[in-house]
This record gives sequence, structure tokens and C-alpha cells, in this order.
Amino acid sequence: MVVFDAGNLYSKSARVPEAQRAEAFSKATLIAEAVKLGAPDGLNVATGDLAFGLAWLKETSQRLELPTISANLSCSGEAPFPPGRVVERAGLRIGVVGVAGKDVDSPGCVAGDPVPAVQAAIQSLGAADFWVVLSGGRNDEDQRLLDAVPEINLLINGEERKEHLNPRATAAGDLRLAAGSRGKKLGVLEVRHLPGATRFRDVGAYAQLAEKKDKYTSQIAELTRKLTDTEDGVEAARLQRRLDYYGKELKEVEAELAAASANSGPAHESTHRLLELDATVTDDPATAALITALKDELSRGAPVVDTLATATGPFVGSAACAGCHGAQTAQWSTTPHAAAYTSLVAQNRHRDSDCYTCHVTGALHPDGPKSAFAVRGLEGVGCESCHGAGREHAANPGAVRMNATPAETACTSCHDGVKDEGRFDPASYLPKVRHSSTGAPTATPPTPPPAP
Ligand code: HEC
Ligand code: HEC
Ligand code: HEC
Ligand code: HEC
Repeated sequence: MVVFDAGNLYSKSARVPEAQRAEAFSKATLIAEAVKLGAPDGLNVATGDLAFGLAWLKETSQRLELPTISANLSCSGEAPFPPGRVVERAGLRIGVVGVAGKDVDSPGCVAGDPVPAVQAAIQSLGAADFWVVLSGGRNDEDQRLLDAVPEINLLINGEERKEHLNPRATAAGDLRLAAGSRGKKLGVLEVRHLPGATRFRDVGAYAQLAEKKDKYTSQIAELTRKLTDTEDGVEAARLQRRLDYYGKELKEVEAELAAASANSGPAHESTHRLLELDATVTDDPATAALITALKDELSRGAPVVDTLATATGPFVGSAACAGCHGAQTAQWSTTPHAAAYTSLVAQNRHRDSDCYTCHVTGALHPDGPKSAFAVRGLEGVGCESCHGAGREHAANPGAVRMNATPAETACTSCHDGVKDEGRFDPASYLPKVRHSSTGAPTATPPTPPPAP
């Protein structure tokens, strides 16, 4: 097994907002220590990895003996890291070279043209059975590199946020892989190395095509038999249409199979998958201990005082609405929104600035709470998350109106398709938050305010 990271490991972007810097820095250090436990064979430098400065990255790489590499990064005219390395494993020499993308944004550092940089690295590292490039560039930069440097067998991208669920085999037979963002998935590529081969054959895809061919062939045999047996003209026409359909499909599959074997020649056989690092994957005790320690550190945090956010600012908190909107409050209390903060507390993530914003009220609003330590009274996805800030309305409901019909965009600021893993479905989600018992739109006027 060889373990690589293609970059943007320590931070997803070059700039970290000042308010989150201390926390982000602790997380970057945790990541370095955790990755060390995984015995990496090559760690590329992409723009986010320089978020805490070149000095930090160099010092951390040295202290933890991490194999940080970059062939085209140049800082104050010097290459801060080796361009790559050759790893010997299972009797093979596996060469790995790192390249940063054009968007490197760190004082004194620039990313040079990756093409000559990779060519020079391959020259200087000596012979290898297999060349892997770890790239912090964009897809078009990667393609240019693959076109220009035929030695590359495999390119792993750490910059494009999208995962390549189905790795693209390039025209030349190289593979391009990406595992997506936020460390949620591990890309696993298994390769059966064939000496002398210069390309890959995805055995999974090939087997799928072969299976389809068998299926269509037997369908056609079956339909042909039925067609000879039938004396019903209408049925015969129906069978003929299906025969024509499968005949056409079979031709296409045969053509795909022929293309796959024609340009295959000698090929390394490969299979790939993205392993979801969810609860089904047992935690490594040493890594888990590091994470627990950091969560404790963050919960203790710098601001000791837990500021009551509802004392000032345009958000007053759901408790202020309950007296006049009893029915809506009763229904809302049964929804997961009311318990959204509890979910974070249960994981000890409520002080984490990567987490609290969507699990409290108003934090995504410019005038809402700006720190995980200043949310008291606004815990959970309260009324004002959907209806807008309500201090003025609560004080003077007749004069200041609220938004009575929150649009779908009120939801998608939090149900953003990423953190919720794409679960948001307006058709089924909206009825669940409406306050009438049926979930149908209501026109019932709210309970009038109590007499003053
Ligand atoms: C961009 C907004 C957003 C951020 C930031 C966010 N969440 Fe959530 N979270 C959601 C939404 C939306 C759901 C509900 C998803 C669903 O079930 O449709 C959710 C659900 C949850 C749940 C309960 C359901 C489950 O999947 O178990 C937990 C626990 C949770 N989030 C923890 C976290 C943690 C920990 C963080 C920080 C790493 C975080 N959230 C950051 C929006 C967010
Ligand atoms: C003092 C009582 C009172 C409080 C407190 C109060 N409301 Fe209202 N609310 C009303 C009344 C009365 C109406 C109906 C206004 C009308 O029809 O003239 C109303 C209407 C609404 C409407 C429908 C849209 C509109 O403005 O007509 C929404 C939504 C709403 N309130 C949300 C809230 C939220 C959220 C809070 C807490 C931040 C809140 N209210 C606090 C009395 C109150
Ligand atoms: C301020 C952020 C935020 C907004 C705005 C928001 N949600 Fe949520 N929503 C969450 C979070 C966080 C959860 C998960 C709560 C938990 O389980 O901890 C959630 C959970 C849900 C669930 C429960 C999912 C399940 O079955 O487990 C539904 C349904 C839902 N939201 C619908 C909506 C709709 C519809 C809107 C817009 C009208 C909306 N939400 C607006 C943050 C938000
Ligand atoms: C997840 C978003 C969301 C949250 C949180 C939420 N509401 Fe609503 N609210 C809605 C939607 C959606 C409607 C109805 C619009 C429709 O019927 O199409 C609505 C309607 C209303 C209305 C108009 C009368 C009615 O019942 O339809 C009032 C008043 C109201 N909400 C008050 C509240 C109060 C008070 C809270 C907090 C206890 C609250 N809402 C929390 C989304 C939300």
C-alpha cells in the first residue's frame, strides 16, 4: 500500500479569517499529527497548505518527518521542498511528484510551470516502474501536464472540490483521480502491475460491459424462440420491436468492448472506489484520542464568558415569540430544528466555528452572532432562522411585519447540498416545517396578542 495526499490538507483555502485563525491552526496541527499516524508516502503542497505560512509547513514537515513534496513551488527563489521521491514497495519503484496550482497565494511564493518541473523531477529521481503526480492545479492544467509528460501513469487532484467517482481514463490510458473535499472519503485504487504496460484497464468497467453483452445475447435468443412459436400477429410485432431494440443495444455494447480491447494492449488492471469514512469505519484509537483532545481544547476556548446574544442585536430568540404564537411554537418544538444545538453539544462540536452557524439562529446573517461563544438564547434553528430577525416585530407586532411565507432560499442557506450531503428535498421537507398539523399551507391568522 502507498498513501498519498494531493494537497489542501491543512486548510481548504489560502486565507483563513482572523477570527478563526487560532482554531484553524489547532486543526491544521491535529491533521498533521493524524496524517503522520497513517504513514504517508507523499504529501503535495496546494494553495491551502500555505495558509499558516511556509515556515510553519516546513517546520511541521521536519518535526513529524512528513514527506512533503513540490516540484514547482518556489519561495524567495528557492525550492522549499524536494520535488518528489521514489518509494519502493512490493518489489516496485513508485515515483511520486507534487505540483502546486497557479493560484498559490503566499508571500514570496509562486508556482512555476508544472510541465518542465515534472519533467526535471522525473529526470532527477531516476528510474521508476510507475509515475504518480499529485496535483494542486485545475482540470485544464492537469490535462496539459498529462499531454506533455507521457511518463505519468496516474494523476491525483487535490484542488478540484469534485470527486471523480469514476476516474477518467485519458485518451492515453492514464488515470485521473480525485477524492473530493473535507476528508469525507478515501480514494482507493487497486492496481495489478503488468511490467511494460503503459496504460490501465478498469477491470470493473470491462466486466460490466461483458455482463451486459451476455444478458442481451440471452434476451435475443429467448425473444427469437418466442417469435417462432407465436401465431398471434400483434404479439409477433411486439416481440419484433423488442428484438430490434436488443439487437441495437448488443451492437453498441460489442463496439464498446471491441474499443476497450483494441486500444488496451498490455495494461495494468485496476479497480477503484471511494470509501465513505462514516460510522461504519472503525475509528483508529490514536487518531480518535487526538480529536477528543482538540474538541476539549476548543470547548474550553478563549472567551470564557458565554455571551447572551439575545440581549442586543436584531435577533431576540424563539422564547420571545412563544407567548403570542403558541400553536406555531408547539409544532416547531417537535421538529429537529428545535434540537439542532443539542445535536452539536452531543458531539462536543458546539464551540467549533465550522459547525455552529447552521445549528443556531441568525449566525448566517450579517447582524447575527459572529462567535460560537455568543449564541446564548439563539441555540437551535429558531423562528427567526426562517422568518427573519424579530426584535422589532415582537415589540410592536402591529407595526412591524414578519416574512410570513419563507421561500426555499431561506432553507438552502443551511441545507446547502454539501453539509447535509444533498438530502434536502423541498417537496418532502417543506411540509415538515409548516406549522399546521397537516403540513399544508395555512392561512390561519396568528393568535392575537394578549391584552396589554
Ligand atoms: C451549512 C450549514 C451546516 C453546517 C456548517 C453544519 N451543519 Fe450539521 N446539519 C446541517 C443540516 C442542514 C442538517 C440536516 C440534514 C438533513 O438531515 O437533511 C444537519 C444535521 C446535522 C446533524 C444531525 C443529523 C445527522 O446527520 O446526524 C448533526 C449531528 C450535525 N449536523 C453536526 C454538524 C457538525 C459536527 C458540524 C461541523 C463539522 C456541522 N453539523 C456543520 C447544516 C449544517
Ligand atoms: C406581542 C405578541 C407577538 C410577539 C411577541 C410576536 N408576534 Fe408575531 N405576530 C403577532 C401578531 C398580532 C401578528 C399578526 C399581525 C397582523 O396580522 O397584523 C403576528 C404575525 C406574525 C407573522 C406573520 C406575518 C406578519 O407579520 O403578519 C409571523 C411570521 C410572525 N408573527 C413571527 C413572529 C416571530 C418569529 C416572533 C418572535 C421573534 C414573533 N412573531 C413575536 C404577535 C406577536
Ligand atoms: C439556520 C439553518 C437552517 C435553516 C434556515 C433551515 N434548516 Fe432545516 N435543518 C437545519 C439543521 C441544522 C437540521 C438538523 C437538526 C438536527 O437534527 O440536529 C435541520 C433539519 C431539517 C429537517 C429534518 C430532516 C430530517 O428528517 O431529519 C427538515 C425537514 C428541515 N430541516 C427542513 C427545512 C426547511 C423546509 C427549511 C426552510 C423553510 C429549513 N429546514 C431551514 C438547519 C436549517
Ligand atoms: C424551518 C423554517 C421555519 C421555522 C424555524 C419557523 N417557521 Fe413559521 N413558517 C414557516 C413556513 C414555511 C410557514 C408557512 C408558509 C406557508 O404556509 O406556506 C410559516 C408560517 C408561520 C406563521 C404564519 C401562520 C401560520 O401558522 O402559517 C407564523 C405566525 C409563524 N410561522 C411563526 C413561527 C414561529 C413563532 C416560529 C418559532 C417557534 C416559527 N414560525 C418557526 C417556516 C418556519
